[in-house]
Amino acid sequence: MKIRIPRDELKIGMFIDRAVLERSNESKTGVDFIQKILIDTPEKLAKLRKQNLKFLIIDTAKAQKIEPKKVETPKPKPVEKPPEPEKEPEEKPVVEKVVEPEPEPEEPQEEEKLLESFDDDDKKGAMGGSVVPFEKELEKAREIKEVAVQHVKNMLEDAASGKSFDTEPAKEQVNDIVKSVFRNKDAMLSLTRLKSFDEYTFTHCVNVTVLAIALARETGFSKSQVEMIGLGGMLHDVGKMKVPDEILNKPGKLTPEERLIIQKHTTWGYDILKDRKDISDVAKLMALEHHERIDGSGYPNGKTEDQLQPESMLTGVVDVYDALTSARVYKPGMPPPNALSFIKSKAETEFRPEYVEKFMEVIGIFPVGSVVEFNTGQVGIVKEINRDNLYEPNVIMVMNARKQKLGTGRVVESSKYENAGLKIIRFHHPDDFGINVSEYLDLDTKRI
Ligand SMILES: [Fe+2]
Repeated sequence: MKIRIPRDELKIGMFIDRAVLERSNESKTGVDFIQKILIDTPEKLAKLRKQNLKFLIIDTAKAQKIEPKKVETPKPKPVEKPPEPEKEPEEKPVVEKVVEPEPEPEEPQEEEKLLESFDDDDKKGAMGGSVVPFEKELEKAREIKEVAVQHVKNMLEDAASGKSFDTEPAKEQVNDIVKSVFRNKDAMLSLTRLKSFDEYTFTHCVNVTVLAIALARETGFSKSQVEMIGLGGMLHDVGKMKVPDEILNKPGKLTPEERLIIQKHTTWGYDILKDRKDISDVAKLMALEHHERIDGSGYPNGKTEDQLQPESMLTGVVDVYDALTSARVYKPGMPPPNALSFIKSKAETEFRPEYVEKFMEVIGIFPVGSVVEFNTGQVGIVKEINRDNLYEPNVIMVMNARKQKLGTGRVVESSKYENAGLKIIRFHHPDDFGINVSEYLDLDTKRI
């Protein structure tokens, strides 16, 4: 069983599944992380306790009983009173409190049941429900995403520089994302609204992974296919690591030559992955084909619908959505409804219509984390999608009609729209009102 514990409760014998450290000056990304280590010596324990750990998750099933080293007792001097034996504060209580592996629960958890049912062909295409409330899932989702972004960064950099890289941790992270999406997809989806400006490529790869998993789940792919799509999402832009930074992040318009170099990231990515035995052909082709379009207008090969694998066409939709809604050095992020209507206008020509339709159902007209204005002038943040009526999501009210910030964060449920005569009339960028969406979602989590 994986459980989160405070740093002070870390003991010898525990197995760290993952831990994220607070921002250090040396770290460009703001996080460093530790994964899969056994705390088998007091030195290791002491070192970790000194670290500024942001969060820590241990795997109790992998805990081990560590025998204490024999402490040499100092020889008493003949005439003086023997000294008090030195205290070993780290070791003694630790050995007594070693965490024993906990038996796995006999009954599968709710999410496991859902994952099992997902394998049944007859359940394909069913819009999955949530087994965990949004508030409960959000913090977990945030941790999973933070670790995944850091790992993608390491993996992509190693892959591009020809170093060996291990896909096992990425597969585990994909699995964590899949499980989170099954518990409550809106939690993980809301985090795709929080864009990282500095580390665009890595955040984008994880966003594409999340969005592709959520969409694939609703589009008839089996669980193992969804996992393959997840890994493909993480690696789909690996070729971008070979594009010079000055082109990738050029503030101005690209020249035709520069555009061609950027387009090469698809074939470069495929070349990096093609000989790997631990990566499926599906994931390799996703790297090659995610910019192809069903009418043959895409790159690098101008393939058409019948020549493309479905996973690549699905990735094409979510990739464009995340790219459009992200702010870059050369452009602000497009509001989600505008990005969706752009994608919708290209359904049938560039994108497979069924993926576009399903994608709109999955993320909603006003995705979670969107800042919206009502006909009354009140402003709120979308907290949860009402999939029966995409125009009436549950919204946390953050400003009154005079645009004064509210402290309470009252939630307007979708069922209240009609009685209150409420209607969402506008979508705003969070910066329009200086709203920190993440803070409000956190506040909401704490309040409940
Ligand atoms: Fe790409």
